Amino acid sequence: MRDATPQTVYLKDYTPPEYLIDSVELDFDLDAQHTQVNSRLTMRRNPESAAAGVSLVLTGEELELISIQLDGNPLTESDFTINLETMTIQQVPQQRAFVISIENRINPKANTALEGLYLSSSMLCTQCEAQGFRKITWFLDRPDVMTRFKTTLSADKTQYPVLLSNGNKIGHGDLANNRHWVSWEDPFAKPCYLFALVAGQLECVSDSFTTMSGREIALEIFVEQHNVDKCAHAMQSLKNAMRWDEDSYGLEYDLDLYMIVAVDHFNMGAMENKGLNVFNTKFVLARPDTATDSDYEHIEGVIGHEYFHNWSGNRVTCRDWFQLSLKEGFTVFRDQQFTGDRTSQAVKRIQDVNALRTRQFAEDASPLAHPIRPEAYIEINNFYTLTVYEKGAEVVRMLQTLLGAEGFRKGCDLYFQRHDGQAVTCEDFVNAMEAANGVELSQFRRWYSQAGTPVLTVSQHYDADAQQLHLTIQQSCPPTPHQPDKAPLHIPVKLGLLAADGSPATFVINGQQQTDITLNLTEAEQSFVFDELAEKPVLSLLRGFSAPVNLNMPRSLEELAFLFKHDSDTFNRWEAGQQLVVQVIFGLIEDLHNHLPLHLNALVVEAFHSLLNAEADDLSYQALLLTLPDESYLAGQMTVIDVDAIHHAREFVKTTLAHALEDDFNRVYLIHHRDESGKFDADAIGRRRLKNACLSYLSQLESSDSYTLILAQFEQAHNMTDQMAALSVIVNSQHPAKASCLDKFYQQWQQEALVIDKWFALQASSYMPNTFATVQALMQHPAFDMKTPNRVRALIGAFSQANPVHFHAKDGEGYRFLADQVLALNTLNPQIASRMVTSLAQWRRYDKGRQKLMKQQLQRIVMTEQLSKDVYEIASKSLA
Ligand code: TRP
Ligand code: ZN
Repeated sequence: MRDATPQTVYLKDYTPPEYLIDSVELDFDLDAQHTQVNSRLTMRRNPESAAAGVSLVLTGEELELISIQLDGNPLTESDFTINLETMTIQQVPQQRAFVISIENRINPKANTALEGLYLSSSMLCTQCEAQGFRKITWFLDRPDVMTRFKTTLSADKTQYPVLLSNGNKIGHGDLANNRHWVSWEDPFAKPCYLFALVAGQLECVSDSFTTMSGREIALEIFVEQHNVDKCAHAMQSLKNAMRWDEDSYGLEYDLDLYMIVAVDHFNMGAMENKGLNVFNTKFVLARPDTATDSDYEHIEGVIGHEYFHNWSGNRVTCRDWFQLSLKEGFTVFRDQQFTGDRTSQAVKRIQDVNALRTRQFAEDASPLAHPIRPEAYIEINNFYTLTVYEKGAEVVRMLQTLLGAEGFRKGCDLYFQRHDGQAVTCEDFVNAMEAANGVELSQFRRWYSQAGTPVLTVSQHYDADAQQLHLTIQQSCPPTPHQPDKAPLHIPVKLGLLAADGSPATFVINGQQQTDITLNLTEAEQSFVFDELAEKPVLSLLRGFSAPVNLNMPRSLEELAFLFKHDSDTFNRWEAGQQLVVQVIFGLIEDLHNHLPLHLNALVVEAFHSLLNAEADDLSYQALLLTLPDESYLAGQMTVIDVDAIHHAREFVKTTLAHALEDDFNRVYLIHHRDESGKFDADAIGRRRLKNACLSYLSQLESSDSYTLILAQFEQAHNMTDQMAALSVIVNSQHPAKASCLDKFYQQWQQEALVIDKWFALQASSYMPNTFATVQALMQHPAFDMKTPNRVRALIGAFSQANPVHFHAKDGEGYRFLADQVLALNTLNPQIASRMVTSLAQWRRYDKGRQKLMKQQLQRIVMTEQLSKDVYEIASKSLA
């Protein structure tokens, strides 16, 4: 066990900082193993603080102190105390500004946690969000302390020719012993979590952007030499994002320089450090032969996300870490809008909802459930969650739905205008929305404090004599940790009605004629009447997924097939197809449990048949309509998850469709199969998606014809989308060329880390027999490395999160394996270790046998000595 139970931090305990840091001068004498940091903090008491003491508490961890001075006078041992997380200076001036000068030493090479200053390949870089700055030097490491930074870096000229930090370059020069220095100044006060430095042998790809007011911004992407040919897409994405934020939000970039650095070792996707974003290479590098269409889209999305943070996060930042969704939920919403505008709103919305429902809903139904604004944490890194990000974005989206696009924009304008340069709260965001629109959102605020996914139970009744549709909606929300009882939420529910011929039905509500409407649910139960309906309409509810809720609404398969054909709302049309298949699969699972033979309802075959023969203009959307619900989505809908039955039933549906519609799948495949590598327009991407969806069905046939077709695509592909699509179906089939294809792929791409990640992930997520043995063997592969998060996610992450059948093997070998890896990672990289534990958090959802095995591993983890806060929090909360 750990020596002491780690401390919990509570939102209710927030108090303003006792001191402020107006400016800081940082000098780094960089070296991989002995970096010296000299910092000069100009400080004063915070007039807003009510605290009485005269001492000063700075945060700092794993630092070696060299010297400390107050106003130029050295402090002695009796003037201050240092413990594991803080330094307390007994007495500092209260009536005037004062200067604290500190010299300390750190060892970047020993830093495998990848927060603070660390070594990635041979370059030095920083990650300070959320609390990494305290591993660089003693500071007030909290987001409501905003400081102007001036940073000087000096280092060996050969090893570190490029020296970067935030803001503008203000000087540089040579030093003795082949060393040199560069100084940077950031004119914008910022919290220290936005500080960054990078030093290394980097190539610079540059371009420029002219802002709406005519200012010219230099754009620079820094990568290692061998990646220079993979930056064009990231650069174009950055320009697209800059233009989009001007057009959509009226927001312009503020510095003269915008830099992005791509690093191999990174715990997350990317980081919005002021003027100097640091990115996981995964979200920068792309070339048609190395990156898939989805990679291209994700890169543009993440580049956009970090760029948008310049306003939603940096210019207006968070008061404390409980407000994380203020910047993340809002910025995710902004990047979703951006990607939708750049690609297809229909497709983007479906992808986002799909991810939300399979992953965030699972989190919200687990012991780790928390509101988008959490009330307590042990380790803040554990709260960079799907709830804070994705559900947070849904909450912002609901505000937009309630206020309308224009009203929402007015609210945003007021928010940025009121709070520019400040560290604020979610409350301030909602206040701005209210003030700009003259509305009252008090009930809506519950979305910030209440966890769990609400359930809407819907009943309807058509009264032919009165020509009325009566709709009753009840809302409820299951209990979550510390929140047994829930209050009703303000939920926007978009709906439309369809006439018998599939066209939109006109109705009258509140005396007004409409074809669609947004209902405001505010009570536990509410009824609505739709008038002047001469025939019974078909209800299309929760259009565009207007709220993050579960719908409980019994529907016939016929009605779902009808909506799948006719609904004009692109989201609900897709959703009808999903629910059709979901119902059918659950029927099959019941048959499996009753040892009955399986039979696929002809309605499904007919629905897919007509889809494959219909005209379509958005082919990516068409491909989504053809895709069966994920196993993890199906699992989320089951009281006791039966991974084997889910897999078996879903495969049965897919294989039966493949046999019944083989000609259609072949025909559509051939129409769209052509070599257009290097083309990334919506049509070319759509053709690839649709074709590859067909290929995936055809692979179910396990016939010599399908083997030939798939192998041909694998061998002839000139783009990664097609090559991966082929390899992925090969790996999940009994294709005779499986081993040789995997080998060829490895030989071809062994120099490209990001492609080799795909190679690992594909094998780790295969549902074919022997996968566990393969995973164990891959752990010993020379290309596997526990210190590279992308690799860990590709192998251990894919196995535990994307391979339900094998991870949940009945004998518990998957669980034991995961716990072994978590404990190994615990000392190396606690953030990654704790991410890996979360797949055990769902243990209560499985059968008694699996529950016991999962719980055993969680207990084993909790009992381990020297457990990080990160892992301790997730494992102990999972067991609670
Ligand atoms: N703010 C980053 C983002 O855009 C999140 C992030 C990047 C992060 N790296 C991190 C959070 C490391 C915690 C730790 O969303
Ligand atoms: Zn973010």
